[in-house]
Amino acid sequence: MRFTPIACSALAVLLAFCGTVSAAPGMFDAAGPNAQSVADVFWLVIAICTVIFLAVFSTMVWVVLRFREHLDDGETEPPQIYGSEPIEIAWTLAPAMVVLIIGLVIIRSVTELRASPTGENVERIRVVGHQWWWEYEYPDYGFTTANEIVIPASDPETPRPVDLQLESADVMHSFWVPRLAGKTDNIPNKTNTMWIQADHEGTYFGRCAEYCGTQHTKMLIRVDAVSPEAFADWVAEQQKPAVDDPTVAEGRELFLSMACANCHTIRGTRSDGKFGPDLTHLMSRKTLAAGVVDNNRENLTLWMEDPHQIKDGCYMPDMRISARETKLIVDYLMTLE
Ligand code: CUA
Repeated sequence: MRFTPIACSALAVLLAFCGTVSAAPGMFDAAGPNAQSVADVFWLVIAICTVIFLAVFSTMVWVVLRFREHLDDGETEPPQIYGSEPIEIAWTLAPAMVVLIIGLVIIRSVTELRASPTGENVERIRVVGHQWWWEYEYPDYGFTTANEIVIPASDPETPRPVDLQLESADVMHSFWVPRLAGKTDNIPNKTNTMWIQADHEGTYFGRCAEYCGTQHTKMLIRVDAVSPEAFADWVAEQQKPAVDDPTVAEGRELFLSMACANCHTIRGTRSDGKFGPDLTHLMSRKTLAAGVVDNNRENLTLWMEDPHQIKDGCYMPDMRISARETKLIVDYLMTLE
């Protein structure tokens, strides 16, 4: 069997497409109605395009074979036909109908996705994109956290949508958790809205989907969908002020005496900066630096020695503190459960 270059290219495109589907970050594996709606539109468009492709390509192949030049019958040119009104009307109306159908379906989906959810089970989160981390404020509960959100999972009887208010503190970012919803941009001086809903408990990963500077790739999102009871417990924990452990008083005083307090909030202390992530319950988070590394003593120490070892170009400066001071501060941070 002899492969022509065209056949080889077509095969390569097909394999690339299959590879993309299997390695895609989950938009084809929707975990909520919002993402399902996006996936449904995608597959509808693919199906329509496949039918058009097959119709056009098979007609073309048939025409090429059927009307190819017969050198033996003495003719050099097929009969020339100029214009056909019915055919021209048909091939204008048919694509117009296709565009209309796809357009109507997309308008319906976009309207569904745009409408803010209502009802007593709606949770609200304000999502502020920063270079390069996420601030999450839960306005109904009066606390702010960072990089990891916890939401209640829905069940078939009780949908629990989460209404997101998207903002930016600096440049454009884009909030994207593929298994829960499509992307929506966080734009400076503008508030966008979107909603997500997780139909099952689980962890859903996402990322910033708008290039926003050197550490755009390290601006990950983690959504933990938990049972409503676990969510209520988590909220109650987050609402508490920071743990005040006397055994780490020296580290706490050091933290409060340095520039740390100007950038980070630790509720219950005089540290009330807003430039960096809220650290009140730092150790309740599983990762550091917007999902880049696990949140543990080793990585906290690396971070305090010089954040740029983990996230080069981030806006937290190298504090240039001694190994002893680093240990004291890490000991203190480790108590912020
Ligand atoms: Cu934020 Cu890319």
